Amino acid sequence: MINFQFHNPTKVIFGKNVESEAGKEIKQYGAHKVLVHFGGDYLQKTGVLDRVHRGLTDAGLEYIDLDGVVPNPRLSLIKKGIELCKLENVDFILAIGGGSAIDSAKGIAYGLANDFELEELLMGNVTTDKIAPIGCISTIAATGSETSNSMVVTIEEYKGQKNLKRSYNHDCARPLFACMNPELTYTLPVYQIASGASDIMMHTMERYFTNTTDVDLIDRMSEGLLVAVRDATLKAVKTPDDYEARATLMWAGSLSHNGLTGTGRQSDFASHKIEHELGGMFDVAHGAGLCAVWGSWARYVYKINPARFAQFAVRVFNVPENFYNLEETALKGIEAWEDWCRKIGMPTSMSELGIEPTDAQIEEMAIKCVATGNGSVGFFKKLNKDDVINIFNM
Ligand code: NZQ
Ligand code: ZN
Repeated sequence: MINFQFHNPTKVIFGKNVESEAGKEIKQYGAHKVLVHFGGDYLQKTGVLDRVHRGLTDAGLEYIDLDGVVPNPRLSLIKKGIELCKLENVDFILAIGGGSAIDSAKGIAYGLANDFELEELLMGNVTTDKIAPIGCISTIAATGSETSNSMVVTIEEYKGQKNLKRSYNHDCARPLFACMNPELTYTLPVYQIASGASDIMMHTMERYFTNTTDVDLIDRMSEGLLVAVRDATLKAVKTPDDYEARATLMWAGSLSHNGLTGTGRQSDFASHKIEHELGGMFDVAHGAGLCAVWGSWARYVYKINPARFAQFAVRVFNVPENFYNLEETALKGIEAWEDWCRKIGMPTSMSELGIEPTDAQIEEMAIKCVATGNGSVGFFKKLNKDDVINIFNM
């Protein structure tokens, strides 16, 4: 195990109807006026927005709405939100939705607490530990942004470059509280359930595939999480109102990306960096993009540490171990993951994802991808531009 710090102060408020408690919760932080930030109209149709508004009013809070968040949230709306908050003297931001709404809220909160232009933060030219207070109400089990330290945003244009999907990570961005009601996820389309669940699996897998040794405690916890999510997803896509399956997914989403499964080890995250380029260029659903990338990444790197891939195969997908040929076991584990993806309707290649990038587009994505890591991405195997191109071509 390597040294680590783990700091996760987000208060989790979990279970049926908890979205009504957001107002009371915010009041405790001394706020007066709240920006309620969200995406599409499912929140109006289901009455969630009304319930949240009522909770705010009952707590004696003023509020103003800003909707329009889209999947792969855009910087332009964040900038609009920052201006609106300044104009309206907003002192608390409440996101309702998935990773996109929560990350958009994080962007607004960074903008309120700092003087720089947000693109400079996302491009790595400045850093900060200051952010305005945020809370959230999750409506999808997926990114774990409700407790994560991360914000992922698409910059539409930066110095002539278009659609750069970039992230900034700092512990200050963990929301003060997260209301998580599994019932709110019942209205999700099946594709989004599956995409979100794949992202949950991937957040732990990105940390699981490490060359750090003596990490058995977190390995075992991770394998438990992966098996539970594997099974709950199969139930959730078939039975939309299976509360226990939704609850498992929702809590797993947070546990998978709050940093716990990365403690004491070097994480990888190459697949995420590669997928972010697909999301920036083609606007694909994040979890589906990860499914399209991971098998190729895995086949490209597994020989670095076949024993680790074999352990994943045996413990997560019950592949019989061939002790004399760990590479064979490793490959069967990759196939088992792809079978699971197919069962839940997720793609395992870019063509199944519905995109066919040209060679020039692949090169552009590879250049942008490694630029975020000073020439390489990932740690299980450090990948340079040519490696990323090879993975895209696989
Ligand atoms: O657009 P709206 O109307 O809000 O609808 C959303 C969206 O179309 C819909 N939806 C969400 N809850 C629903 C619902 N529809 C019906 N009923 C509900 N209860 O689902 C669609 C997807 O929502 P989105 O928020 O985009 O999904 P997700 O939570 O997967 O977030 C994806 C974004 O988060 C980033 C991704 O890159 C992507 O931009 N990530 C953020 C991370 C973080 N902050 O820690 C880490 C992740 O690795 C990821 O990169
Ligand atoms: Zn993710």
